[in-house]
Amino acid sequence: MIIPAQLNQLDEIVEIENSSFEKPWKRSQLMDDIRNHIDSENWVFVQDEKVVGYIFGWIIQKEFHLHNIAVHPNYLRKKIGRKLINHIISRVVDQKVNVILLEVSVNNVSARKCYQSLGFVEVGMRKDYYSKGDDAILYNLEIN
Ligand SMILES: CC(C)(COP(=O)(O)OP(=O)(O)OC[C@H]1O[C@@H](n2cnc3c(N)ncnc32)[C@H](O)[C@@H]1OP(=O)(O)O)[C@@H](O)C(=O)NCCC(=O)NCCS
Repeated sequence: MIIPAQLNQLDEIVEIENSSFEKPWKRSQLMDDIRNHIDSENWVFVQDEKVVGYIFGWIIQKEFHLHNIAVHPNYLRKKIGRKLINHIISRVVDQKVNVILLEVSVNNVSARKCYQSLGFVEVGMRKDYYSKGDDAILYNLEIN
């Protein structure tokens, strides 16, 4: 079940965030995004009565900027990431958005495969974008 992210789910979201990223978002950043829900789309995937994944992003004019997506390590490869992205597509397509944009580390193979399997196209690269010196790959998905 995919439902809007709520502040009372923050502990579960932070736990997934911390176990998914070397440089996780701070709790305060996640909280700000949940609070600021005008022009943002923040959703969680709930299974077994727990938050097992989430997707956060902002609508900026006709673009959706996908800022954060993660699935709990025990729930990977169960199509949850794909369902979260498809949910966002169905939400933003009605809000006149015509492209979804994101960036991901060149070394994040699972995320890159996930995006590619959904039709995202590589449109550029930012050198040394991440703290470890990894490059970022920019992906777009045209939706309208
Ligand atoms: C990226 C992420 C959200 C994908 O979530 P997921 O629920 O495991 O992915 P799905 O089960 O929906 O997979 C969809 C497709 O992505 C690809 N994929 C996902 N994980 C993969 C992996 N480890 N290896 C290869 N392909 C993978 C496959 O094509 C898969 O389709 P298939 O299972 O039919 O082969 C998840 O790996 C994650 O949370 N990673 C840590 C956080 C992160 O890196 N987020 C992205 C930051 S930009």
